[in-house]
Amino acid sequence: MKTTITHIKADIGSLPGHTTVHEDVVAAVKKHVKEQGEGIIWDHHISYIGDDIQITMVHGNGINASEVHKLAWDAFKSGTDIAKKLGLYGAGQDLLKDSFSGNIKGMGPGIAEMDITPRKSEPFIVFMMDKTEPGAFNYPIFRMFADPFNTPGLVIDQNMHAGFKFEIWDIVKAKSIVLEAPEEMYDIISLIGTKGRYVIKRVYTRDDHEKLPGENVAVITTDKLSFIAGEYVGKDDPAGIVRIQSGLPASGEVMEAFTHPYLVSGWMRGSFNGPLMPVGLKNSKMSRFDGPPKVAGLGFVYKDKKLNGPVDMFDDPAFDNARQKANDVADYIRRMGPFEPHRLPEEDMEYTTLPKVLEKLSGRFTELDETGKTKSKKVSTMDVD
Ligand code: 13P
Ligand code: 13P
Ligand code: MG
Ligand code: MG
Repeated sequence: MKTTITHIKADIGSLPGHTTVHEDVVAAVKKHVKEQGEGIIWDHHISYIGDDIQITMVHGNGINASEVHKLAWDAFKSGTDIAKKLGLYGAGQDLLKDSFSGNIKGMGPGIAEMDITPRKSEPFIVFMMDKTEPGAFNYPIFRMFADPFNTPGLVIDQNMHAGFKFEIWDIVKAKSIVLEAPEEMYDIISLIGTKGRYVIKRVYTRDDHEKLPGENVAVITTDKLSFIAGEYVGKDDPAGIVRIQSGLPASGEVMEAFTHPYLVSGWMRGSFNGPLMPVGLKNSKMSRFDGPPKVAGLGFVYKDKKLNGPVDMFDDPAFDNARQKANDVADYIRRMGPFEPHRLPEEDMEYTTLPKVLEKLSGRFTELDETGKTKSKKVSTMDVD
């Protein structure tokens, strides 16, 4: 049976400022999806990390189904009404358009969805990140599906031995490419190491995979809010769906990719590098310097139009060391204050306020000749780069 998993997320207001959600807003989103979703979706789960509300749905309408996208859009709209009444900070922040026009892409909310051929047991994990960007998934997805030191199944399970296909998007130039691991591993890394531009969108099995040939097995949101809005409107905090087991990385191999709190960009004002901390849902508030960037994981099993679960995957002392290391890295890097590489390079900063500050100095720059002597003409900062 045609089956689709769709995950849509948005920040529609925070308490007190980008820290977490308000329970009344989550309740309004839940109520809408439950009441209006009948006949459109089969099952759903609503959750959040930091200030982002997350809707996971299963249905038979395929990807890009306007009725499914509209359901999520309207649910976020009804949540936004409550957020406005409560005076929450940034109420409706990620709803960038006034009215729904057929597809939620390009309207603000992040979306990850895939059509699947359900297996006898169909386990998958939804990863949700706050205070970072889609490229934050590059490192762990690569490790799950291409690095045998993370995923020994790539070596010892004959179903995975051939490797996986990676669909990578250039989100600046709106282009995509499919590369195959392990043969093109170095090409893959040469792109995805530039994580602000090249992002892994999907992972597929190879066409000769014995159990699931040519199937989509992972998908990540790649919506870049600043490109949609033309200026900073909040970080494009990403989410991803990863199918696991029987010919795919095991649950524990997928989770293992988050045991090293690697550095991602985002955090305060969308403008700082910081460690990605894996957390259980009870610890998903963003209190320190609006972070640090965090990831939560929800483990589901799908069967007969029902979602069983979820399991709060990082709510486990086995991730305490990663959390401790993330706190140590946060202490270390915070000491750099507004200096790079803690602060992002100018072109990657999400806030547009620094150029505005610098504009004030524009008339005070003087042009230099090739020997470093002052030329007479004054120039603007915009001419100096
Ligand atoms: P969000 O993208 O989570 O709203 O965070 C924005 C921000 O500026 C944090 O400091
Ligand atoms: P405001 O200037 O709207 O307070 O934004 C700053 C911010 O949200 C950083 O977290
Ligand atoms: Mg916010
Ligand atoms: Mg957020």
